[in-house]
Amino acid sequence: MKILITGANTGIGYATAERLVKQDQHVILACRNADKAKTAQVRLQTLGQGQVDIVTLDLNSLESVQQSANDIAEQYGALDVLINNAGLFAKSKQLTQDGFEQQFGVNYLGHFLFTHKLLPVLSNAPKARIIHLASIAHWMGNIKPKTFHGEGLYNPLYFYGQSKLANLLFSHELARQLAGSTITNNALHPGGVDSDIYRELPTLAHKALQLGLVPTSIPAKLIEDMAISVEWENKNGEYVSAHMPNWQSRHATNKGLAERLYMQSMEMVSPYL
Ligand SMILES: NC(=O)c1ccc[n+]([C@@H]2O[C@H](COP(=O)([O-])OP(=O)(O)OC[C@H]3O[C@@H](n4cnc5c(N)ncnc54)[C@H](OP(=O)(O)O)[C@@H]3O)[C@@H](O)[C@H]2O)c1
Repeated sequence: MKILITGANTGIGYATAERLVKQDQHVILACRNADKAKTAQVRLQTLGQGQVDIVTLDLNSLESVQQSANDIAEQYGALDVLINNAGLFAKSKQLTQDGFEQQFGVNYLGHFLFTHKLLPVLSNAPKARIIHLASIAHWMGNIKPKTFHGEGLYNPLYFYGQSKLANLLFSHELARQLAGSTITNNALHPGGVDSDIYRELPTLAHKALQLGLVPTSIPAKLIEDMAISVEWENKNGEYVSAHMPNWQSRHATNKGLAERLYMQSMEMVSPYL
């Protein structure tokens, strides 16, 4: 199977790639940093027979996302699994190239465009699966269109929560739209995982937090199952968790909110579709 993972040079994405390469799957690492991607590719190639490719993807720029998706369509024609994994936690306000608050833009909107651009490529596989990395942190957020460009007081936790809530709402909405098609769509919370995502935290806070974190291999096992197991072949619209409860906030299960966000997102990415 051809399996594309965004942000696969480190963390949960890399650990997932490790498991899939060991299963001799064809893994495509979609990364922004060519050197980090190359290092990951070389390490992965020693683990199994599965082919490991690299494609360039910078979710900070909708133009890069568009270009990347076009290149993937041309190079591969069909894709069996898309794992929307890349993400960041930003402790201070930054904007994407298109002027969106960075966590909203990278974690959510870039993936929204990327997924839409790749739907025809996923449709070309006999059966395809889309997997979104959401988070229990979605409880900290809401969807406030007036903050999509980082307006107002910057609370990093709120903005991370908004981006992860958007991931989950998008997953639910897409699952409804894809029901009955050859593509399934699901989301997960990977748990509190020891990865680079906490790199911006102060050292002491990071050390304290690390005591409660699990290794990347825990969510990687769940994502591997969601991507290639028979058990997950026909599941659609699920939200599961690797090692914590998969409780959803009332915003996450709000169908109207998901539909509105979907329409707003379509408008925001329309020049690149
Ligand atoms: N770790 C946790 O406790 C936790 C909990 C809940 C959810 N999650 C979610 O799990 C996913 C993976 O996170 P992780 O913990 O594995 O974090 P990580 O170790 O920091 O890895 C994140 C990956 O995303 C990539 N990335 C960041 N910005 C990007 C951009 N503009 N374009 C393309 N790629 C970009 C990073 O690339 P670089 O190496 O170049 O920066 C890296 O490969 C994220 O969606 C995160 O929100 C994590």
